[in-house]
Amino acid sequence: MEKYIINGENKLSGTVEVQSAKNSVLPILAATVLTDEKVTICNVPEITDVRNMIRILNCLGCRSVFSGGNVTIESSCADCYEIPRELAHELRSSVFLLGSVISRFHKAKIAYPGGCDIGLRPVDLHLTGLKKLGVRIKEDNGYISCECDKLTGNEIMLDCPSVGATENIMLAAVKAEGITTIENAAREPEIEDLQKFLNRIGAKVSGAGTGTIVIRGVEKLGGCSYLPISDRIEAGTYLIGTAMCGGEITLTHANAELLSSLLHKLRENGCKIRIKDDKIYLKNDRRLVSVKSVETQPYPGFPTDLQAQMTALCCICSGNSIITENLFETRFKYAPELRKMGADITVIGRNAFVHGVPKLKGATVVAHDLRGGAALVIAALSAEGRSEILDISHIDRGYSGFEYKLRALGGDIVRASV
Ligand code: UD1
Repeated sequence: MEKYIINGENKLSGTVEVQSAKNSVLPILAATVLTDEKVTICNVPEITDVRNMIRILNCLGCRSVFSGGNVTIESSCADCYEIPRELAHELRSSVFLLGSVISRFHKAKIAYPGGCDIGLRPVDLHLTGLKKLGVRIKEDNGYISCECDKLTGNEIMLDCPSVGATENIMLAAVKAEGITTIENAAREPEIEDLQKFLNRIGAKVSGAGTGTIVIRGVEKLGGCSYLPISDRIEAGTYLIGTAMCGGEITLTHANAELLSSLLHKLRENGCKIRIKDDKIYLKNDRRLVSVKSVETQPYPGFPTDLQAQMTALCCICSGNSIITENLFETRFKYAPELRKMGADITVIGRNAFVHGVPKLKGATVVAHDLRGGAALVIAALSAEGRSEILDISHIDRGYSGFEYKLRALGGDIVRASV
C-alpha cells in the first residue's frame, strides 16, 4: 500500500498538459473488440483503469501494446467471451465489454463489475437495453451470462440517462441488423466522442450529445488512429487545486467548452480565467468567496466527478455553501476526512453544508474513492502543515503522473510505502 506525504501552503504555478479523457478511452477500448483492424488510441493516461481494461482485452485474446502514451490494439485474434471475476471486479467499465463482446461472439460472460464505491450503481439499464436488441440474459452466482442468435435493432427508452448504459447499447447496436434508437440517452461529451470514434471506423451513429441517438447497423468495421477528447475532470481538478492553493496555471490540450459549469463557479469564487484555443489559464491570489450552492447534474450541469474537489474548495471560502449530489447516493465519504483537516462540513442526505474556514490543517486521512481522494490531495496541498493521504490506489485509477504534475507546479508531494 502506498500513501502521499504532502507539505501544504505552496502556491501552484506552471503548465499542465491534459490527457485524453479516462471516460472516453475506456469505452473506446471496449469498442475495439468490434473490429478486426488495428486501432491506435493517442495521449492515453497511464492509470490503473486503463491498464486493467488492456489486461481484460488481452484476456479476450486481443493483442494490445501501451507505449509512448499510445495504445495499439489488434482484436482479429480475439477468441474468448468470458471476463474473469478478478479483472471485472477491478474496473466498473468492464461492463461496457458486454455490448462489444456479445456483438462479436453472440455470447458474453462477465462477473458483476467493480469500480468506485459511491452508491448502488446497478446495471439494470444496460441489461434491459441489451435484451431489447435480442440478447438473452441469465444472472447467476455473481456472473452475467448473455447469448443471442443475432442482434436486431430496436427502440430503447432509458429510464434515466445513464452514461454507461447509453455507451453499452451503442456498442451492441453498431453491428446489429437494422436501426436502433436510444431515447433519453445520456448527453455527456464522452458519448459524442465514442460516436466520433465509431464513425471513424465505419459505423453509422448520429445524435450523440442529444437525448436521441440513432444507430444504423453495419456489417464490418475498420481501423484508425484516434485522439480522444481531453479529460475535463483531470483539467477541473488542477483548476480547483490552483484556485485553493493560489498561483497561476495554464492547461494545454484542454477544452473550456466542456467545463463551462465549473468555470462559471470558479469565476464567481473570484478566480481570473482566460481561454484561448485549447488553453485555459487560471489565476488566484486571494481568499476565495463562497458560491452558495453547487448541485451535480448530468452534462451540461455541474459534473458529479468534480463534486468532491469543489466541496474541498468550499471548505476554505469565505461564507457558507451547500453542495448537493444528485447522481450517486454515497459520494460524501471524503467529508469526515476533510473534517479531520479542520473543515466545518456537515452531510445530511444528499447535501453537504459547509461553513468556510480561513485555512485547513494537515492531517492523516484516507482516500475512499477516486475523486474523493483527489479532493483530499488538493485540500492537503492548500493546508497548513503536513498531511498523509492513505490508500492512494484509488487515485491511481484516474490521474496519471499526479504527483509529478503537482510537483512540477510547485506542490510538495511525495509517494511513499506505508
Ligand atoms: C459514468 C462515469 C463516471 C461518472 C458517471 C456520471 C465512466 C467510465 N464513468 O459512470 O465517472 O461519475 O458516468 O456522470 O464513464 N443507474 C441505474 N441503472 C443502470 C445504470 C445507472 O440505476 O443500469 C444509475 C446509477 O446508479 C446512477 C445514475 O444512474 O445513480 C448515473 O449512472 P451512470 O450515468 O450510469 O454512471 P456510470 O456510467 O456508472
